[in-house]
Amino acid sequence: MQCRPRSSTKRASQKNPHCELPPEPDARRKPAYPPGLPLPRARFAAPFLFFALGLSFCQRATPPDRARLSDIFRFSNAIDPVVFDVEAEAARVYENGGVRTLSDSGQCRECHEVVYDNWQASRHRVAFTNPLYQESHAREPSRWCVNCHAPFVAPLAENQATPGPNEREHIQTDDGVSCLVCHVREGQILSSREPEVREDHPAHDYVVLEEMQSASFCAECHQFNFLSAETAEPHTELALVYADQPMQNTAMEWWQSSFRGELTCQSCHLRPDSAESHRFPGGHDHELLSQSIHVGVRRLQESGRALLTVYTFGVGHRFPTGDLFRTLVVRLLTPGGQTVAEVRLRHEFEPVPSDRRSPGDPAKVRVSDSTVPAPQGGDYAATRSFVIDLPGEPLHELRYELYMAYLEPVNYVLTTLPLSETRPLFESGVIAIEE
Ligand code: HEC
Ligand code: HEC
Ligand code: HEC
Ligand code: HEC
Ligand code: HEC
Repeated sequence: MQCRPRSSTKRASQKNPHCELPPEPDARRKPAYPPGLPLPRARFAAPFLFFALGLSFCQRATPPDRARLSDIFRFSNAIDPVVFDVEAEAARVYENGGVRTLSDSGQCRECHEVVYDNWQASRHRVAFTNPLYQESHAREPSRWCVNCHAPFVAPLAENQATPGPNEREHIQTDDGVSCLVCHVREGQILSSREPEVREDHPAHDYVVLEEMQSASFCAECHQFNFLSAETAEPHTELALVYADQPMQNTAMEWWQSSFRGELTCQSCHLRPDSAESHRFPGGHDHELLSQSIHVGVRRLQESGRALLTVYTFGVGHRFPTGDLFRTLVVRLLTPGGQTVAEVRLRHEFEPVPSDRRSPGDPAKVRVSDSTVPAPQGGDYAATRSFVIDLPGEPLHELRYELYMAYLEPVNYVLTTLPLSETRPLFESGVIAIEE
């Protein structure tokens, strides 16, 4: 079954819809990465990306095989946790004629320092421990959440009774989405390519999975629907069932964008083999945010109004995307500091009253979307415009402030976290009003 961005809530599927992405097209038939790409990082990134993509796509014979990915990783789009036996499945490393097992992501740092240090500073490492997640999980303590934010549970001992679904304890939660989550199963290192062996023997046992270069791999956690309202109840004993309503739609948005077949999630966020490999910058990275999001204001003659346009450059999906509460706040002020307009770009959801729900329906539906669309038609930029009222006084320029807001509006009252963490300012400046 395919994910539909705006499907009705009528039908609920009994099995996990699993959001199958259609196969990616063959990149070899696509035009080369354009040198004039308006990505702010393009000057250094383009030659490298072109080289890397050229290499990786030329080797791929078949489209990503989702079944194979789920089999090997035991990912289930978060319906179940990943059962992982730390003792038995630890990756082996061969060195100085001996063999050692690595049961902790910290041990990867010995030989993969750059990758490790970048991951260590990434949101993947803090996926379970970060205060935004901790607060929201305390409000909504569903076992489902942990299946993505810290996917591992230990296997049951042989004579252990099967616990209720809520009693499985997750392990290695401090490492969140760790090296082991994405690279280790059954003693093998899962790699997207045949590694270049440095000694006279490989450092690890490898399973080569070219699928790891595809968006389908990231979609395991970055593309999913709401649960049906019954199974979304925090302490339910019911098996989890997805409703027919996307909650995070990032991979589908990417699939429908100009970037499909040219740049994958990995090209922009994982950046293999670079100094930034595994940094996974996103909605918490102020530098990337301010490079990617821009605003302009143009006066609409005689109406006393103006058009605020928000531009994204090099964003491979809608913006904001991902978490349902993500909001880009654009505030415009007079040079004297008076607020002229505050525009919020966000996904809007509305609760469905229980007497209007059929079994299998979600508790919320997406009613509208004021986010910037994904770039289309070969473009790498996208825009969204909003009409705003200008104050009566004659103005030629405005101050602007851009904020990233992470909480549902009502939770700004309840949270104990400071605004600098829940709604940081990532960019401000002055823009001329175009006439
Ligand atoms: C003692 C050193 C050492 C440790 C510790 C180590 N690795 Fe490696 N790893 C290597 C070397 C060397 C290579 C390069 C390929 C080769 O020689 O086999 C490599 C290659 C890899 C590759 C393939 C890279 C490519 O170029 O495609 C992956 C993925 C990987 N390691 C993951 C891990 C993970 C995850 C851990 C921690 C569980 C880890 N490694 C711990 C030495 C190590
Ligand atoms: C969210 C999943 C994810 C996590 C977490 C992750 N990796 Fe990776 N890693 C990948 C994918 C996917 C690739 C292949 C990218 C490609 O080829 O496009 C990769 C590639 C690599 C490579 C080869 C490319 C390079 O830049 O060197 C190494 C080595 C590696 N990973 C080691 C690690 C180590 C060590 C950790 C923990 C510090 C880690 N990875 C954490 C998904 C992950
Ligand atoms: C062409 C480059 C590009 C591609 C391809 C791309 N992204 Fe992004 N992504 C960006 C940029 C740029 C941002 C916005 C800047 C920021 O958040 O720092 C972003 C933001 C994000 C965010 C934070 C969302 C938010 O609203 O705060 C997530 C999560 C994300 N991307 C995941 C993905 C996944 C998963 C894929 C693949 C399905 C993907 N991206 C493909 C460039 C890309
Ligand atoms: C096992 C699940 C899992 C997989 C697989 C996974 N992610 Fe994530 N990712 C997460 C979770 C959970 C978060 C949110 C962490 C947090 O709480 O801030 C996240 C966060 C991110 C962010 C930071 C978003 C932000 O707003 O700061 C980026 C970028 C990202 N992932 C990209 C990727 C890419 C690219 C891949 C594929 C190579 C991938 N992820 C694979 C679970 C996963
Ligand atoms: C199928 C995987 C998946 C499930 C299940 C899931 N999440 Fe997430 N969550 C993600 C990903 C991926 C992101 C990153 C998206 C982004 O950055 O916009 C994320 C982001 C978040 C964030 C924002 C964190 C930040 O750093 O800004 C919060 C809070 C959060 N999730 C809470 C929850 C809660 C509570 C649940 C359970 C009710 C849950 N999640 C279930 C994948 C999942």
